[in-house]
Amino acid sequence: MFDVLKLRKMFPIYENHPDLVYLDTGATSLKPQCVLDKMNEYYQEYGVNIHRGVYHLSYLATNAYDEARQKCADFLNASFEEIVFKRNVSEALNFIALTYGEEYLQEGDVVITSELEHHSSILPWMKLCERKKASLRYVKLDSEGRITIDNFKKALDSKVKIVALTYVSNVLGYITPIKEIINLSHKIGAKVIVDAAQAVAHFKVDVKDLDADFLAFSSHKMMGPTGIGVLYGKKEILKKIQPLEYGGDMNDEVCLDSVTIKEIPYCFETGTPAIAEAIGLGRAIDLINELGYDNIKSHCESLKKYALEKLKDIEGITLYNPHCDLPILAFNINNVHPHDAATIFDEANVCLRAGHHCAQLITKWLKVLGTLRATFYIYNDYHDVDRFVESVKECVAFFKQFEGDNYE
Ligand SMILES: Cc1ncc(COP(=O)(O)O)c(C=O)c1O
Repeated sequence: MFDVLKLRKMFPIYENHPDLVYLDTGATSLKPQCVLDKMNEYYQEYGVNIHRGVYHLSYLATNAYDEARQKCADFLNASFEEIVFKRNVSEALNFIALTYGEEYLQEGDVVITSELEHHSSILPWMKLCERKKASLRYVKLDSEGRITIDNFKKALDSKVKIVALTYVSNVLGYITPIKEIINLSHKIGAKVIVDAAQAVAHFKVDVKDLDADFLAFSSHKMMGPTGIGVLYGKKEILKKIQPLEYGGDMNDEVCLDSVTIKEIPYCFETGTPAIAEAIGLGRAIDLINELGYDNIKSHCESLKKYALEKLKDIEGITLYNPHCDLPILAFNINNVHPHDAATIFDEANVCLRAGHHCAQLITKWLKVLGTLRATFYIYNDYHDVDRFVESVKECVAFFKQFEGDNYE
């Protein structure tokens, strides 16, 4: 285990809320001081625009921004030009649907997705399929709610042109066997778009090893700032797609009735970008490297095991994913709406998520209105799990009083 108390000193929110039990990293992670400092350093020491100025400070800002992009490239084992900055995963996935999808999907084609997806990984494809008269096909989930290779093979045929799947489910914490899925998809010529929103904070994502065509992640779920995310695209595919937006900084020469555009990735980024945020994301990547994925993984795994062990003995709850791969626990207090239950957790200063987690299809698949979701990360410890478990027990006891009451 990490020395969590020491580690927490890196996260100023704990100074302001010493009693906080933060179990909502799945929604967004806490932000460490080093990331905030790095962003402030930009604003205070060289906070000018990039790619434009011909003066020293502008070179400094441009270099820092480029360095951040290179860090993202190294982080994913990609190259510099394959990293396009977007606001977040949602924007990145919409961008692919509106560019690559618009250009290459045709009437009668099929896009494979799953009921495990976050809305960001379904809706852009649903709307694209509507426009193109193509169809969306859902991989059947197994009895636990996982995407399996067997079921994926059943969904795959020559009509499939795009496969858009999550690497890690934000509700059930399952890891999709994405490498094999990519391999199978490529055999029939389909392109694969990976939603890595919940993956990058937990394990190494290597786009070359996966052979992913596109992959997206958001900085804010991995200790970086909000407002910036990364779209990875294979060089040869990015070169074939047209920009979605036109304006400053993405063009070379502008004439009265024509424009030549810059090379990738610049042609996909118009206007002044999120400079401080990119630099902050670069610092968050450094921090993950400093902490080491092996340590992050073993820490989170031990918290997950400890929590599962404790929850096992509590009567009156339903846990939907006892075999989750990552520390994302979905559960309900029996016969209690998750939003009602959440108020009890809130009173105990235990922050967790309640509802459908922007993944309504999987809550429907589970046949519930929503779930409570607790996610653990590096700044959590056994004490947090104990406080969480205490709140679960309190919640069960509290609502038990009203069992059988009829409010109609
Ligand atoms: C699996 C998954 N995909 C996509 C998203 C969307 O991320 P963002 O809100 O940063 O665009 C999330 C956020 O919760 C997620 O968990």
